[in-house]
Parts: sequence; C-alpha cells; structure tokens
Amino acid sequence: MASIAPLQPYDLQQHIADNRLLGLWGLMSGYRMTYLGATISQALAALAKTSTYLLLRYIIDNVIGFPEAARLLPLFALGFISLAVVEGFFTFTSGRLAARTAEGIAIRLRDFLFDHIQRLPFTYHDKTRTGELIQRSTSDVDAMRRFFSEQAIGVGRILLLFAINFIAILNLNWQLALYSVVAIPLVVYTSYLFFKRIIVAYEKYQEQEAVLSTNLQENLTGVRVVKAFARQSFESEKFDRQNWEKFLRGKQLLVMHSFFWPVTDILCGFQMLAGFLIGALMAINGTITVGTYLAYVGLIVWLIWPMRNLGRFIVQTSTGLVSYQRVMAVIKEEREPLSEADFQATKSIRGEIEFNNLSFDYEAKSKVLSDISFKCKPGQVVALLGSTGSGKTSLVNLLPRFYEYTSGNITIDGVELNKYSRKFLRSQIGIVEQEPFLFSRTIRENITYGIGREATQHEIEQAAQAAAIHDVILTFPNGYDTLVGEKGVTLSGGQKQRVSIARTLLKDPRILILDDATSSVDMETEAEIRRALERLMKGRTSFIIAHRIQSVMNADLILVLDQGRIVQQGTHNELLQEEGIYREVFELQTRIEVELQQEIESSHISGFKGSNQ
Ligand code: CTP
Ligand code: MG
Repeated sequence: MASIAPLQPYDLQQHIADNRLLGLWGLMSGYRMTYLGATISQALAALAKTSTYLLLRYIIDNVIGFPEAARLLPLFALGFISLAVVEGFFTFTSGRLAARTAEGIAIRLRDFLFDHIQRLPFTYHDKTRTGELIQRSTSDVDAMRRFFSEQAIGVGRILLLFAINFIAILNLNWQLALYSVVAIPLVVYTSYLFFKRIIVAYEKYQEQEAVLSTNLQENLTGVRVVKAFARQSFESEKFDRQNWEKFLRGKQLLVMHSFFWPVTDILCGFQMLAGFLIGALMAINGTITVGTYLAYVGLIVWLIWPMRNLGRFIVQTSTGLVSYQRVMAVIKEEREPLSEADFQATKSIRGEIEFNNLSFDYEAKSKVLSDISFKCKPGQVVALLGSTGSGKTSLVNLLPRFYEYTSGNITIDGVELNKYSRKFLRSQIGIVEQEPFLFSRTIRENITYGIGREATQHEIEQAAQAAAIHDVILTFPNGYDTLVGEKGVTLSGGQKQRVSIARTLLKDPRILILDDATSSVDMETEAEIRRALERLMKGRTSFIIAHRIQSVMNADLILVLDQGRIVQQGTHNELLQEEGIYREVFELQTRIEVELQQEIESSHISGFKGSNQ
C-alpha cells in the first residue's frame, strides 16, 4: 500500500459531535478528498459495468441477425475486454484509496488517543480500569477503521450503483424502472428498524468485551496474588461466566443478523422476480426489444444487489457508531492542562515551601487532609510519619500538582502552587513513588528516563551508587544494559526501589520526595542510601516518608500525621519532650530493637554453648 499521508497536528476534540454520523464525518477531515477519489473510482467502475450490459443490448438488437454487421464482432469483443479492464482498474483504485482513508484515520485516531490518555489527570486514571482503556484504543478504533474502509466507502458505492443503474433502466423504459424499485422503501425501512435494535445489542456486546479484557488484564497483572491464594479456579469460573455472557450477547447479535438477512433477501428476491416477469411480459407484448430485456435482466441485478447491501451496511454502521461513541467518551475527558500558568517561573525553585490551612479530598469523599499548616526553608528535610492511610502520600502528591487541593493554599518560594505550570513543577520535583514502576527496558533506559537527554556513564553510575544499586547492577549479565522484566532480569522489590531512586536522583530535582522509598530495603542498605542522600540532599528541599524513626530523626522538621491532620510537628528532640504518638512510636521501636538485640545475643551464646558440647 502507498505510504500514508504524514500526520498533521490534529485536534480531535474539535470533532466531537452529538450526532455520531456527523462526528464520523468530522473524523474524515483531511481525508475527504481521498474518500471522494475512492467514490469516483467506484462510480467509474460501476459505469463500466453498466456499459457492458448496454453494449450487450446493442449487439443483440443491432448486430446479431445482421450478417453485414457480423464482421464488427472482434471490435465488440475488444469493447467488452476494455470495459472489464476499466472496471477492474477502478475497483482496484477505489479499494486502495479506501484503505488509505481508513488506515489514515485509524492511525491518527490511535495516536491521538494514546497521547490524550497520557495527559488525562490522575483523578481520571484512579477511577478508570486499564482494560477498558485498552479495549477502546484497540477494538473500538478497529471497528471505526472497518467502518471507514468498508461501510463508509460501501455506502457511496451502493448509492452510485443504484443511481447509475436506475438511470440506465429509466432510459430503457421508464415504467419498467418504476416497477423495479417498489420494494426499495420497504427494504430501507426494515434496515432502519434493525439498525436501531442492533445498535443497542452491539453496545452491550462491546461493554461485555471490555469487562472481559479488564478481567484478563487484572488477572495477568495480579497473577501472583491469584496463585498465592490458590484462587485459579475461582478466577477461571469468573472468567467463564463473563465469557459466557459475551457469547450470549454475541449470539443475540448474530440471531438478529440472521433474522435480518433473509427478510431483506426475500424482499429483494421478490422485487427482482417481479422485474423479470414484468420485463418478460413487456418483451412478449413488444413494448421492449429482446436486447432491452436482456440488458434489463443484467441491470436489475445491479440495481437490487446494492439495495440488499445497503440494508447490510446500514446495520453494520451501528458498530462504527457505537465505537465512535465509546472512543469519544474518553476523548471528551478534560486533559490536565500543561501550559496553563499565569506566572512564568524563570529560574529553578529555591525550595521554600509553606502549607496554610490546607484541606484536600479525592472527589467529594470524606476529607483526606485537613488544616495542614507548616513551613520549611530551602534545603531543609521534612519528614512525614503516620499510620497507614493517614494521608502522607496524598500530601506529597499535591506538590507536583498530581491532584488539586480544595481549600487553603500551598506556596513555593512565596508563589501559590497553582500559579506554576504542572510541567515546570514536575521538572523541578523528583518523586520516588511508594510503588515504583519500571519499564520493560534496559536498566540504563530506566535510570535515564526522567531527564529526556543522553546521560554520561559517569552520571548514571553516580546516581546508581548513591542509590546503593551500582554494585548489584554490575553482577547482572549485561550490566547497565540488562533488560528489566519479562525478557530480562526480574528485580527484587528493594532493587526496584533503588533503581527508581537512581532514576529520580539523576534528574537532579530541586525538591526531592521519597515516599517510603526504602521500605523494601534492609536496614544496612537503607543506612547506606541515607548517608548518600544526606550528601545529595544538601541544597534541596526534601520530603521523606518513612515508618522507621531512624530514617526521620535527623530531619529539620518532622510532621506526625493522624487521620489527615498534623498532630505533632517539630524536630526529633522537641517531639521526644512532648507526650504523643512520636514518643510512643520511638519508645516502641527502640524497645523492639533492644529486645531483638538481646535475643540475637542470647541465641548466639546458647548456640555457642551448644556447639561446644
Ligand atoms: N485515597 C483515595 N484516593 C486515592 C488515594 C488515596 O481516596 N487515589 C484515600 C485512601 O483511602 C486513604 C487516604 O486517601 O484513606 C489517605 O491515603 P494515603 O495518602 O495514600 O495514605 P498514606 O498515609 O500514604 O498511607 P500508607 O502509609 O499506607 O502509604
Ligand atoms: Mg503512602
């Protein structure tokens, strides 16, 4: 196939229309000329076909039985061959142009959708299932591609065939032409009725397919959980049920179709039969010539056949419309604006951060954070401590504007947070997520992911060393070029955390957020990372979320969170002076450690004694 027209910067959101057909028409922008070309080619092909029958009529009426004209027969043979070649050529051309239209629209749509989905806000992704999005970007886009390559082009072809052949028959005999189309309104009306029903059935079918693909995707991602809890048969049964439901919905769709075809086929069959009969009677009566009758017999087939297919296309268009609506539902979603800020920060952030009576909730649920107020100077380390679900992750996620706060405010260097653009903030803030995600690419690509440029080996190694992962990487078969995941090494939880720390450190952010970043790392390695970080954190404001007191005790400011509120704040020494959670946790953790130490020592002694005996 010829190369597809280059992608133009394209805003699909402007093509959203309430009327789905209009919307699909809108999507064709830029390809309408190609589409027109395809339709014209089809017209020419149809014209060639019609001409074949007219030529036949001419031969029968004017050549056969006239010996003097018989010597022209080779010429007529050439005429038939030429018409066949013309028809073949234009059929091929129209197919090619149709494919270009359909593939072009589909590739543009897929690209746009991918880009769009990436720019949707966190709140959208929180509530949307991945499988659903995958299905809309693949199966639904494909249904639309089919619509453009088959239905949209087919409709043009059908209407043209109908028009050309109708005019041709009209020229043969106008009464015959009218008799030939009496059943057509009935066919169109029946198709419309089926169309309305099938659209509902297909919607249900696609929804069920989305349920199935979501289920599949979740089971693949969570295969360990499924196995660990030995829930395979439960999951299989669940899948069977959903699959069965899809089968039922698919069957319903098929039953409708198989009901529809005979109905229109019978209508069309009767229409054709009536045409043959009436034509024959007219020929017997001498109203029309035998040649005209023969031509008519050929033409009526090409008049009725498109009508039979028109019904089919009307019905199949329903799939295009349903998929259009499903894709547009995603495209309608508001993106996270990236270049919105009215305040343009010209240089790096210094890192003075202040929270004032800040409250936050995820979409009208109960408050997740209330009345948060604290202040830190550039370069300081702020530690967050609190039981699980107390709102620590939620608090730090506000800084890169992953979510928007509801009341109160946050300022960075004295400027309200939402005056900064998200893009700028995210370039200044490095966050090591609580559940780090690595791509199935090489370790090098993972570490350099955040910087958007080539990094030198030295830079990469420095970051990896600070994250205490350099030595581990060297033990891998291909060092930094080892693939992570499926086809490469499988990293342990702690290794993943450390690679993601290296990734964030390489970005050299002004504000560093470590959300429980060393939770899967042993104490000794954690201490090693902490020492490296202390060196690296100099000059940048850092937020550290941790559960071990040792990880937070050197911070300049410790915030103790409980149910979304700051219940204590101060330095380690200050907090130890007060009654409260901090001291309790500190005492508990020290006691556990002391006990642990004693136990280790006593088991050493008894083990030693044991081995002596
Ligand atoms: N929450 C929510 N929607 C999200 C994320 C969190 O409704 N997208 C809710 C959680 O249900 C929880 C509260 O927000 O009740 C605080 O969550 P989080 O800030 O993640 O708690 P952490 O303190 O980070 O808890 P952990 O120590 O377990 O990480
Ligand atoms: Mg958390």
